[in-house]
Amino acid sequence: MIVSGSASQSFAAALATATGRELSAVAYDRFPDGELHAAVPEFDADHAVVVVSTVSSDAHVQLLQLQDAVREAGASEVTTVLPYMGYARQDRAFSAGEPVSARAMARAISTGTDRVLTVNPHEEAICDFFDVPAESVDAAGRLADPLPADLADPLFLAPDEGATDLADTVRSAYGSGATDHFVKERDHDTGEVVVEPSDAAVGDRDVVLVDDIVATGSTMSEAIDVLHGRGVDRVFVTCLHPLLVENARTKLARAGVAALYGTDTIERPESRVSAAPAVGRHL
Ligand code: R5P
Repeated sequence: MIVSGSASQSFAAALATATGRELSAVAYDRFPDGELHAAVPEFDADHAVVVVSTVSSDAHVQLLQLQDAVREAGASEVTTVLPYMGYARQDRAFSAGEPVSARAMARAISTGTDRVLTVNPHEEAICDFFDVPAESVDAAGRLADPLPADLADPLFLAPDEGATDLADTVRSAYGSGATDHFVKERDHDTGEVVVEPSDAAVGDRDVVLVDDIVATGSTMSEAIDVLHGRGVDRVFVTCLHPLLVENARTKLARAGVAALYGTDTIERPESRVSAAPAVGRHL
C-alpha cells in the first residue's frame, strides 16, 4: 500500500503504477490553530510505503503523522520514501552550537519506519544519519530523456566537482559527448556564487549543465553567463531536484537557458521525468 504526502501525490501515483501496488486514500487537513492532520483509512496490507518529499516544515510533520497513521491503520512494516530529502544540504556543523540538521531530521524520520529510500541525496553519507537501513536510489540516467536528439558536440558540465558523476551518468545515458566540471565558490553570507570555468572549449557546442538541485538558480545562471561569454551555442539545465525557489526561473531565463528539466522528486512544471520507476526497483 502506497501512502502519499500532499506534495508527492504524482510521484506516489507513478510509484503505484510502476510497482503494481495500491495507492491509499489519504486526507490532509489543518486545524484552526494551524496544526496539521494527515490520515489514512484502515487498509488490508502489512507493508506501507510512505512517500513524502520533505520540501517544507509542514511536509516533515505530515511525514511523521503518516508514518504513525499507517501503523494505526494496521501496517506492521513501514518503508519511507523521501524522493527529495529536505535539510540534506545541512550535513555538517561549521562551528560549535550549529545543528547538523540532516542528522536531526534523519533521526526523527527513523523513529517511524523500518527502512528509508531517498533519491540522489546531496551527499551519499547522509544515509548513515538514519537509525534504520537507508539507501540512495540513482535516478540520474533518466535526465537524458527530455534532451533533444540533435545536440551539437555536447558537453555535459557539472557546475562544481561534486556533480561530476551525475554529469557523467547523464552523458552516458545520452550516448555521446564529453564530461567536464567547473569550480564553484559560494559566499555563505550573501549566497552569491562565483564559478571558475574549466578550460574546456565550448564555442558552437551545446552544453548540458547537470546538478543535483537547482534552488535559487544562482549556480546555474552564473554558469550560463560564463558559457555565453565563451561562445556556447545552446545551454540546457537539468537536475534531479527542481526546487526552483524565489526568482530562480527569472534568473535562468535572463541568463538565456534553452530549457530546464528536472524529475518529479519535487513536483514542478519542469518535472519532465519520473524517478518513481527507479525507486520502484528498490522496493
Ligand atoms: C550544492 O552544492 C548543490 O549541489 C547545488 O549546486 C545547489 O544547491 C544549487 O543551489 P542554487 O540553485 O541556490 O545555486
